[in-house]
Formats: sequence, C-alpha cells, structure tokens
Amino acid sequence: MCRVHHDRHGAKQPGRFDPARAAILDDTARFAYVSPDALLAELVLPPSATLVDFGAGTGLYAIALAQRRPDLRVVALDEQPEMLDHLRTAIGRTGVTNVEAVDPSALDALRGCAGGVLALNVLHELGDAALEELLAVLSSDATALFVDWNAAVERPVGPPRDHVYSPGDAVQRLEAAGFTVEIRAPLAYHFVLAARPAR
Ligand SMILES: C[S@@+](CC[C@H](N)C(=O)[O-])C[C@H]1O[C@@H](n2cnc3c(N)ncnc32)[C@H](O)[C@@H]1O
Repeated sequence: MCRVHHDRHGAKQPGRFDPARAAILDDTARFAYVSPDALLAELVLPPSATLVDFGAGTGLYAIALAQRRPDLRVVALDEQPEMLDHLRTAIGRTGVTNVEAVDPSALDALRGCAGGVLALNVLHELGDAALEELLAVLSSDATALFVDWNAAVERPVGPPRDHVYSPGDAVQRLEAAGFTVEIRAPLAYHFVLAARPAR
C-alpha cells in the first residue's frame, strides 16, 4: 500500500513544498553554493553503498551524485506524486541507470540498508514521523547529511528565515529525534550536519 506522510507534526515550514515551483529546484546555479562534490566528500560513502536522497524533489542532486559515483545505488525518495513524475522524467532524460525514484512505501524495505542519507533543503519540511523513518533506514555506522537553509544568515535565495532552522535549533531537533550530531563547516547559505543513530 502506498503511504503518504499526511502528518507533518513537528515540521518547521507550515506547508508542503509546492510542486508548481519544481522548476526552481532544477537550476544548476545551485551548484555554486551547494556543490555535489562537497556533498559526496561529507558523506564518505563506501563502494556500492545505497544512498537515500530523502526528499529528492526533481532529482537534480540525486542524479548529479549518481553520475559522479556510478558504483552507488541512489534511491531518490519523495512523498509527492508530482515530484516523482519530475524525477522519473529526469532519470529518463539523463539516462542514468543507478537512480531509482520511490515513494514512502519503499521505506520498509530500506530499513537499516542505507550506507548514507542525504537530506538537502528538507529538514524544515519533515514532520517527526518522517524523521523517525529517515533514522530507521540508516545502517548502524551510516551518516545522514542534513544540509539546509540557515536561518541565522542573510540570504538572497531560499525560504523565509522563520520557515527554517538555525544550526543550533536543527542540532537540538535531531538530537531529540535520536541522532548524534556533528557540526560540519557551513556553506554560504546552509548549515551542514552529519548525524548518526545515537547509541
Ligand atoms: C525543497 S524540496 C528539496 C528537493 C531536493 N532535496 C533538492 O534540494 O533539490 C523538498 C522535497 O522534499 C519532499 N518531502 C518533504 N517531506 C517529505 C517526506 N516526509 N518524505 C519524502 N519526501 C518529502 C517534498 O515533496 C519536496 O519535493
């Protein structure tokens, strides 16, 4: 059965991402301030690992990472059917063979299987139930990389400051959800947090 996260309790942003705005996600100008290579360097994925892109949107980053690391299996997860349509179109257009687009019904089969998770521009949209599911897909030593718009810096791009977290608030939320968090060097407009299951 196809599950969708209707319960967004705990999410910082009041509404879901509007699929009508999907085109802004495909702007490769984003690579200037969040580079795919920098994300891979932070994730340190072993050969042939499964990387879950949690909230993959149109797949700009899922595909860029898969192209840079053909050994990976990239699972691009999104809860909105419109975004999955965009994702599947992009996968077909680029011809990349190591990315699959999935909805949340795939999460059960992924439990404990991910060598890494990328959550880019998505923490502020995740409810508590989704954060639990994200934690559950990680294998024991795997890292979830949370890269999200920083509420503490002035930005010419991205959501309003009151829809996103300061690094401190993000760390607090992740620790409360069962992660151990390491603060990595911030990007121009984003904080970078490497989170692992707390033991
Ligand atoms: C702002 S977009 C970012 C997309 C992508 N990570 C990027 O940076 O290009 C957030 C995406 O996360 C998805 N999303 C939000 N909550 C989700 C959840 N609980 N499970 C799966 N996808 C989710 C939304 O549908 C949307 O496509």
